[in-house]
Amino acid sequence: MAMQGGTTGGNLGGSMSGNVGGSMSGDISGSLNGGMSIKEEHLFWLEVLEDHAHFLRDYLSPEETRWWEEAERFFPLFREAIRQAEALPQTASASSPQMQAFAAGVYPLADAYCRLEGHMQHLRLFNQVNLNLTPSYFNGTIGENREYLRQLSYWTRGVPAPPLALTELLDLWIEDQIGHAVLLHGLLDPVERALGAEADRYASIFSAYMVKNRAMQGYERFTAPGFPAETRFAAEVLESVQGFYAFVQRVVAEYVGTELLSKATLRFLEHHFPESCYFMRKLAVFVPGAPAYAECPLTRPSRMLDR
Ligand SMILES: [Fe+2]
Ligand SMILES: [Fe+2]
Repeated sequence: MAMQGGTTGGNLGGSMSGNVGGSMSGDISGSLNGGMSIKEEHLFWLEVLEDHAHFLRDYLSPEETRWWEEAERFFPLFREAIRQAEALPQTASASSPQMQAFAAGVYPLADAYCRLEGHMQHLRLFNQVNLNLTPSYFNGTIGENREYLRQLSYWTRGVPAPPLALTELLDLWIEDQIGHAVLLHGLLDPVERALGAEADRYASIFSAYMVKNRAMQGYERFTAPGFPAETRFAAEVLESVQGFYAFVQRVVAEYVGTELLSKATLRFLEHHFPESCYFMRKLAVFVPGAPAYAECPLTRPSRMLDR
């Protein structure tokens, strides 16, 4: 695991704009978890899954009564789990009985939702459901869900979840960034050509990173992680995630001002923010001199309006 305490930050952090940065002066937290407590992890993941359940319901045809009822069944369950997670102690360790009990309680919920999405993906592959989401869309959401399940599988046993190696972290979240860029383009009115082209540009940048990350995995068969080219690659990805984040912020500002021509919902657009902040916080651990992104919010900006 590359954990170098370097001091050169390059231009990372300096180009952050809007509400991502906040105090960008923080240094590397030293925690492999990107400075996140287990409570923060639960809150992040449960809100992500709650969003996913909303997207599934939103994109199902009203004629698919059984499936949108199934999706809606999860709304109050995730909401209640979030309420309980909010009451967890901020700094409790995985071995505390309260944390272990919470993880054990939430595992079946996250697992059941993952199975529902897996089934939707299967039905979509065989055109057996009227659902306006593609099979690959579910690869993204299921990949996220399974990362939560992986962490939960440790916490239910009262042990800390080992963080993903850099190549695993990139594998999960670069694919996510590509998905978000492609989905964003699909939500834009075709006359928003300039914005569509910018979304495409990010999709191809992140696609190239996928290829490069695959190569990194190959090098690591004979070379320990944390070699200079890999660290530089991590810094490059971090900078692109920041750039894409700022672009989505501009798009969301236009949406909120009703200046954007699209078929998007605010929730869908904003889903990008907590996931990208999570990714940046975890990725920054591998980039010497990078800011900690401690102020980068792990909840979507409009969340307070739900309550
Ligand atoms: Fe997601
Ligand atoms: Fe995502």
